[in-house]
Amino acid sequence: MPSTTITATSAERGRRALLHEPAGGDPDKLTLVKALGSLVWDDQGREYIDCTAQAWSNNLGANDPRVIAAAAEQLTQITHARPTFHTPALLELADLLTSISPPGLDRVGFTLHGSMAVEMAFKLAMRNRPGSQHIITLQDAYHGRSITTMAASWPHPHNVFGPLQGSFTRVPHPDLYRTRTGLTSEQDAELCLGLLRDTITKGVDGQVAALIYEPIQGNGGHNEFPANWHQGLRQVCDEFGLLLIVDEVQTGLGRTGRMWGAEYYGVEPDMIVFGKGVGGGFPLAGVLAKAEHANFIAGDDQLTFGQFPISIAAGLAAVRAIIDDGLVERAAAHGEYATARLLQMKERFTLIGDVRGPGLMTSIEIVKDHETKEPACSESHQIFVQAQARGVILGESRYAGLGNLIKVKPPLDITSEQLAAALDVLEVVLEEIQTEFDRV
Ligand SMILES: Cc1ncc(COP(=O)(O)O)c(C=O)c1O
Repeated sequence: MPSTTITATSAERGRRALLHEPAGGDPDKLTLVKALGSLVWDDQGREYIDCTAQAWSNNLGANDPRVIAAAAEQLTQITHARPTFHTPALLELADLLTSISPPGLDRVGFTLHGSMAVEMAFKLAMRNRPGSQHIITLQDAYHGRSITTMAASWPHPHNVFGPLQGSFTRVPHPDLYRTRTGLTSEQDAELCLGLLRDTITKGVDGQVAALIYEPIQGNGGHNEFPANWHQGLRQVCDEFGLLLIVDEVQTGLGRTGRMWGAEYYGVEPDMIVFGKGVGGGFPLAGVLAKAEHANFIAGDDQLTFGQFPISIAAGLAAVRAIIDDGLVERAAAHGEYATARLLQMKERFTLIGDVRGPGLMTSIEIVKDHETKEPACSESHQIFVQAQARGVILGESRYAGLGNLIKVKPPLDITSEQLAAALDVLEVVLEEIQTEFDRV
């Protein structure tokens, strides 16, 4: 049996042994022992409302009995089948996902991580645009942490991996909150579309294969774009023969209140990358693509565990549950409530500079001043710390970007009571931190 309690000595040794932890271990990290729905429990017996859905991955709440049963059933049948074989759940999930994908995306490929799925999309783009030298990404994008997807994301402040990274060019994007001076957000988008055209024609050597973007930039700062940006990107891709890859690892499977962010913004992708929420808590990701682009050849994209039967069975149960439980509609309704509450808080607390959505892609930006929009990073971190001490785990923006976002992105099936309780805690914490901020 796996242990949920370990001796203090063993825990201490484990902390020191972990490769990704600071020397001596990270004493502030919670050790989680149990999760159910939107709740998690740590090894001290403390209960938390998890407004991160564990990296926004549990669109369906944690340990959903249908997912666990499907995974357990698969465990008793066959745990591993290499990609040269099918399993029944694989065929069922392929059929289900292509039936709920935007029109024209009739083919699907699987892998285990969002980063590898983005790489799958890059490979498919290069296979369809042979001779191309480049892929264009947006500034503030986040597409993963494999060597290639790091290059497609924001610049790593301490990047030593350059020699192993390919040709990605980052272009500016419009910003609804920090619109360029003197421009409306639509004009900002037009300006950036012009810069994109210039980059394709004059800023890179050779042909560009594809442009990849997130409908809402997640880790880069919850940046939502004006409507004409989405349509404009499609138009530019058509003008220059680029494939449009929409990275829905965060926005997909209902998070925005629609099944896909592309649907929400009315954009027609050539490929959708999905991940996180599709697996019901198990590692699963992949690419939806058009039949005309489905031309991988042997050796292009096969990973030993790429179609891991347990993940596939769990994913099949999770996607069915998202549909059966009406979680897309629930995300929209919860999102409306959360946004209304956060807008009320914005009236009370000057620290809130902006409230973002849609759906349960909810966040607030914490600023020192509404005019300058200067990020209030330490206040933002305090909100996170104090809410956690009161039993609510909020999302932070810890990486590049501004470092001053607080994210409220729980599972889509969070109960109304739990969501209200989490927002009550956020309000109390904001009140205290605002008082302290005003005092200093
Ligand atoms: C938009 C987006 N793409 C790709 C990824 C990478 O996914 P993974 O961490 O599963 O490799 C992430 C992860 O946060 C993401 O948010």
